[in-house]
Amino acid sequence: MEQADGMAQTDFKGKRALVTGAGKGIGRAIAIRLANLGAKVFGISRTQSDLDSLKKEVPSIETRLLDISEWDKTREVVENLGPIDLLVNNAGIIKHTPFLEITKEEFDDHHNINFRAAFNISQVVARGMAERGNGGAIVNISSIAAIRTTAYHTSYSPSKAALDMMTSSMAHELGCIRVNSVNPTVVMTELGKKVWGDPVKQAAVLSRIPIGRCAEEEDIVNATVFLLSEKSSMITGVTLPVDGGMLIDIM
Ligand SMILES: NC(=O)c1ccc[n+]([C@@H]2O[C@H](COP(=O)([O-])OP(=O)(O)OC[C@H]3O[C@@H](n4cnc5c(N)ncnc54)[C@H](OP(=O)(O)O)[C@@H]3O)[C@@H](O)[C@H]2O)c1
Repeated sequence: MEQADGMAQTDFKGKRALVTGAGKGIGRAIAIRLANLGAKVFGISRTQSDLDSLKKEVPSIETRLLDISEWDKTREVVENLGPIDLLVNNAGIIKHTPFLEITKEEFDDHHNINFRAAFNISQVVARGMAERGNGGAIVNISSIAAIRTTAYHTSYSPSKAALDMMTSSMAHELGCIRVNSVNPTVVMTELGKKVWGDPVKQAAVLSRIPIGRCAEEEDIVNATVFLLSEKSSMITGVTLPVDGGMLIDIM
């Protein structure tokens, strides 16, 4: 369908989409938007009650209970979904710990969930895309913390920086299978509130964002939908900050 301005409306009818971390926050909002735009959506998360409420809200979404840090099980589940045209690697965790106190478990959890799982899932999905030869689009939900870091981010920032470098490397190699990162600033999801909910910390963040507000889930959804859609058909390998200008100032 054409809009008055001649821009084709985004329509994912006939597309099959996979979103990780679809139980809460940004991933849930992306899964719902993709379903509303006509995609057949598969949502993965690791808390059954979140998946039950997602299914109740949008019955067409198919849910899978899975901890994506389990490499073999994740491969099996994703291989059994059938063809996927649109992939959003969104599931992620963050803990704020001083560098000298970070344990092996915390380090491993960040790298397993934020980076290694996205690698694992992308490899399965991209193999199918390459075999079918119809292109495809992958969006990795990264962070501005992949580009600039701050206190107590030594588990998180490097895991997201690795994710962004995977975006570039995959885009370089895969050609018409487009791979991009979306890099949000603070969004007051459950994760965002845990880290930045304290009013003093929140004020410090806001003072650094020229647009003067934190990002909303819908801001991240809009950027993701754009990068999954044909409207971005000449864009691959980018890291797109959705940060209200936060990265502009180096001081
Ligand atoms: N919110 C922010 O300020 C912000 C800023 C920059 C980037 N991001 C990134 O945006 C993404 C989404 O964050 P969010 O704020 O929406 O977080 P959230 O509210 O905590 O939601 C994350 C979702 O991912 C799921 N998940 C986490 N680990 C998983 C695993 N091992 N297997 C399967 N599912 C898993 C969670 O399930 P459970 O709750 O059951 O664990 C939850 O449903 C993350 O990658 C995050 O790093 C967020």
